[in-house]
Amino acid sequence: MARIPKELVDHIIQTADIVEVVGDFVQLKRKGQNLWAPCPFHNEKSPSFSVNPAKSLYKCFGCGKAGGVVQFVMDVEGTSYVEALKYLAKKYAIEIEEEEKTPQQQLEQNERDSQFIVSDWAKNHYHKLLLNSEEGMSIGYGYLKERGLNLTTIQQFELGYSLDSWDDLLKAAETAGYEKKYLEKTGLVVTKTDDQGQDTGRRYDRFRGRVMFPIHNISGRVVGFGARTLKRDDKMAKYLNSPESDIYHKSDVLYGLFQARQAIRTQEVCYLVEGYLDVLSLYQGGIKNVVASSGTSLTEGQIRLIKRYSDNVTVLYDGDAAGIKASLRGTDLLLEGGLNVRVVLFPDGDDPDSYIRKVGDKRFTDYIENQSQDFISFKTTLVAREASNDPVKKAEAIRDVLHSIAKVPDAIKRQVFLQQTSATFGIDEQVLITEYNKLVKSPAAKQSSGGNAGNYGNGAGSANTGYPPSSNNSSRQAPAARPMSDEEEAEMLMYGGHEATVEILGVGVSYQSTPSEAEQEDLPDMLKVCEREVLRLLVLYSSLEVETEVSVAAYLLNQLEEAPFKTPLFAEMWEICRQELLAGRFPDARLLAQNERADIRSLITDLATERYELSPNWRTKEIYVFNEVDMPKLACDNAVLRLNKVHVQRELDRAMERLRLPGLDDAEMFEILGQIKNLKQLDNQLAGMLGTVIPRGA
Ligand code: CTP
Ligand code: MN
Repeated sequence: MARIPKELVDHIIQTADIVEVVGDFVQLKRKGQNLWAPCPFHNEKSPSFSVNPAKSLYKCFGCGKAGGVVQFVMDVEGTSYVEALKYLAKKYAIEIEEEEKTPQQQLEQNERDSQFIVSDWAKNHYHKLLLNSEEGMSIGYGYLKERGLNLTTIQQFELGYSLDSWDDLLKAAETAGYEKKYLEKTGLVVTKTDDQGQDTGRRYDRFRGRVMFPIHNISGRVVGFGARTLKRDDKMAKYLNSPESDIYHKSDVLYGLFQARQAIRTQEVCYLVEGYLDVLSLYQGGIKNVVASSGTSLTEGQIRLIKRYSDNVTVLYDGDAAGIKASLRGTDLLLEGGLNVRVVLFPDGDDPDSYIRKVGDKRFTDYIENQSQDFISFKTTLVAREASNDPVKKAEAIRDVLHSIAKVPDAIKRQVFLQQTSATFGIDEQVLITEYNKLVKSPAAKQSSGGNAGNYGNGAGSANTGYPPSSNNSSRQAPAARPMSDEEEAEMLMYGGHEATVEILGVGVSYQSTPSEAEQEDLPDMLKVCEREVLRLLVLYSSLEVETEVSVAAYLLNQLEEAPFKTPLFAEMWEICRQELLAGRFPDARLLAQNERADIRSLITDLATERYELSPNWRTKEIYVFNEVDMPKLACDNAVLRLNKVHVQRELDRAMERLRLPGLDDAEMFEILGQIKNLKQLDNQLAGMLGTVIPRGA
């Protein structure tokens, strides 16, 4: 391990400006005395990562990562302490005098460092070959010149050339004293195996006779290579790439980002292209904010990388069918990442590289500016054109676009996109919104509520049914207890509040006069939840005394009618309990767990093992918590009242439905209105009672 003297360490730390250092990785914005940004260590939409320049500290309130400037580099680059210091020293041009080390000593540093070192060495080796060897000059450099690249670009991107030989790199490494192990680990050298997969002991260079494109991580260290063949041989892959290694994770690297990052920040947009040569041509043409996905589809890691520098991405792909397909493929992920995505298509047959060479820098820039269109509009136009006269296709196309819109995290943007889409397809916006709501509702709703009213644990019941959130167990997360984000609120306003709930508790219940489909679907669920709650109290506390000589079981059976439940299994269970009590036994969980019916047994286990998620913690303005075991009467009253209230709500709902039926005469209408008035009164009464049984501040 290289030693850096203490004084030098102090000097580095004092010189390094944390705002500058962090600013290389995220867009910091000043708010008060600190600067804020979305955290580079975890995915988030709103910034919880802060930098305090006065104290030279950073802290993320989201993931908890915190520390000083050296720690930041260690965290963000995944390096050792010494490597982080070296990084800072390099950034601030501070000389670190290292004692001369033999190559062997260098390799004794940790694995990753060794792999970085050998990659860096190989990069220099290839670069020298390109510019100094005869073969490199004539073949490699000649090719790049023909492709229009100048020496400055070649040097900026440290391009190179690998000789057309089996062991040039291998031999050079040996002479320089590098261990084969690291050449193999970074994939620069390949091990030859026999038919049985046994190591034959023979090694050879992976890259031969190719132009070498070093791939840098964001701090500029070489982690791998892309290598283009110059031979016209169909059997040979045009590009050969380094394999994954300890230092090269393809999904977390974007080609050109190291060179492009400042420009991305200042231009406030990142151009995304497919190929190495697209990056190089554009960069050379003065369009420096450009990175390549290197032919593969984008990954979340890559998107996070882009987001460190800008929220805007413009995808520049070929105009051919494959290019269009490719641009459609990766983009949903970009949208999901919260990026604003625009698309530019080039004329058929051109890619960004060929097009900029054809028309020149100025016209190219104009082209991008004029031709770029917002991704959703792009997709809409595209699918609308394809589906023009076929209604089935059209419906599919619309759903396809809606799917993309659903990925956009920002509610206001979604709203705009829905408007646009409705215009493009010539469909009523309301119809589109209904479709949209169905679509967003279905997959999530299936797993959260999906008729599984018993699944309280995930809090889905609260979110969808207006059920009070529970809070008497710290391990629980009830979404409804979380304040709504601005976006959710905006969404509710815009989409007619499809998640808005019929508040069944609390004073001043207001019934929504136009319940959405979703709410109607939820109502039976709510009923089920309430029924279940009564059952749960019944079997868990059946013998507990509500008042002197009155058990929970007797109390509940008395309070409710003979057949109070609509859910078939619950109704059967109720009947079993009633029979047991009549026979003089408490219908408690232990007894019922012996029941011959499997569905009853499993319901009992569910009820008994459930933490009382939905016990009487009403959500009015505050959440009141009390222990149901200590207050069984309260728990029972609440459960019964709540169940009754749901019934009233359902009645109200039905009355409202009838009111909306076409062709009602005045008499019918008044009759229904009268019913509604009564039901509302009853509803308020129940709400009031629920209000009174809540132990304030308990
Ligand atoms: N690619 C790859 N392996 C291949 C082909 C392509 O890794 N066999 C990746 C490379 O990163 C390449 C990108 O996909 O840069 C785009 O491919 P392509 O358009 O074919 O290459 P260009 O970069 O445009 O190269 P050229 O113009 O020299 O053909
Ligand atoms: Mn190309």
